[in-house]
Parts: sequence; structure tokens; C-alpha cells
Amino acid sequence: MTTILRDWSYRYQWFYDTVSALAALSVGGENRFRKLFLKDLQINPDAKILDLCCGAGQATQELVKHFSHVTGLDASPIAIKRAKQRVPQAEYVDAFAEKMPFSDRSFDLVITSTAMHEMEPEQLQQIIQEVHRILTPEGQFIIIDFHRPTNPLFWLPIATFLWLFETETAWQLLKTDLQQLLSKTGFKVESCQLYAGGSLQVLRSRKVL
Ligand SMILES: C[S@@+](CC[C@H](N)C(=O)[O-])C[C@H]1O[C@@H](n2cnc3c(N)ncnc32)[C@H](O)[C@@H]1O
Repeated sequence: MTTILRDWSYRYQWFYDTVSALAALSVGGENRFRKLFLKDLQINPDAKILDLCCGAGQATQELVKHFSHVTGLDASPIAIKRAKQRVPQAEYVDAFAEKMPFSDRSFDLVITSTAMHEMEPEQLQQIIQEVHRILTPEGQFIIIDFHRPTNPLFWLPIATFLWLFETETAWQLLKTDLQQLLSKTGFKVESCQLYAGGSLQVLRSRKVL
């Protein structure tokens, strides 16, 4: 079940950005939220970076400040058009995350911000396999997304947010053991940092097999 607000958030970029900024207050604001993936990240500025499901380029905007080869991929042509306007320095590809038009071992880091909760379980598995395929050996995969709250006080805000803006797949993600999924696909999970009472995770993994 979802509400009309979800439709608005995809239709009107200002609405998406406002909701995103309000939600990010739980981690200290949008600016801090967009930098969370940088913590402990040691990677060459010349590395090849993919912003998977880049949307209108919100995370891409932060990535281009640190890396010279950034590509954004999204299945929505409107999102890609908006990302090109927002962050012209990056390259963009309009494609599905579960079947990416990249050759094997073409990226050193794949980051995906607040998008995996939109995937059906089977799709999620396919995407993790695809990410594994396109990463270089020892390449890194960072997932930033919802997580089951560890602080009970955060259940009400997250449940309200999911009810207003998300679909059933977001609820499914709260029950999914992403770490196990990554491990069985050939990734070593290096850390899982939790924020906002445990309702947001930054999950870092590395291709090992
Ligand atoms: C909630 S937005 C996140 C956008 C951005 N990464 C951010 O941090 O704000 C999710 C994005 O995932 C994209 N998306 C959903 N399913 C996809 C798929 N199967 N392949 C590629 N992109 C997909 C949508 O088009 C949308 O732009």
C-alpha cells in the first residue's frame, strides 16, 4: 500500500528533495547524510565509481567532488535527465540495475543510496550478482538504505515514512538479511554502520571471490 505522496515525490523534484532533506534531519541533515559513505573510505581519486540507481544525482553530486570518473545509472529517463542537469560532470546510463550494460570488472566502487528498498527480493539478488560481476577484484560495494530500527523510539517515524512514501518492498528490506545475501554472492561484509536509531544503514562490502 502507498499514498499519493509517493507519486508526487517522483513527479516533482522539489517535493522529493524537501522530503529527503526532512528525513535526513534524523542523521544531522542532508549534507551530513550525503557524506556518510565517505567515512573510512580509502580509494584512489582516479578510481571508477558507479552511482547505482542515481535518481536525480543527489549522491552523484557528492561523488564528483572526490572522484574524477563517476557514472550514474538509473532506469528512469526523467531521473537521468535531471541528474545530467544537476551534475553534468558525471556520465550517465539509462538501464536496469539487474542487467547493466557494462563489461565484467569495470568499476572499483559501486554505491547505491536509498534505492535497494524499491526492489523485489529476486530483483535484489540479481542486482547484487550484477554488482559483483562489474566490480574489479577487491572492488567495494556500499549500500545506504533503511534498516530495522534498533531503538524502539524510531519505529513510529520509520513506519510513518514507509507508509506515506514507500511500497511493500521497503518493509521487506527491513526483514532481509542483506549481509547474508552479500556473503553468499561472494562479498565480504566489512562494516555495517547504523544511524537514526538503527533505521538507516551504511553497509560496506568487498568483492572477494
Ligand atoms: C528513491 S530513488 C533514490 C535516488 C538517489 N540514489 C538518492 O539517493 O536520492 C530510487 C531510484 O532507483 C531507480 N530504480 C528503481 N528500480 C530500478 C532498477 N531496477 N534499475 C535501475 N534503477 C532503478 C528509480 O528510478 C529511482 O530513481
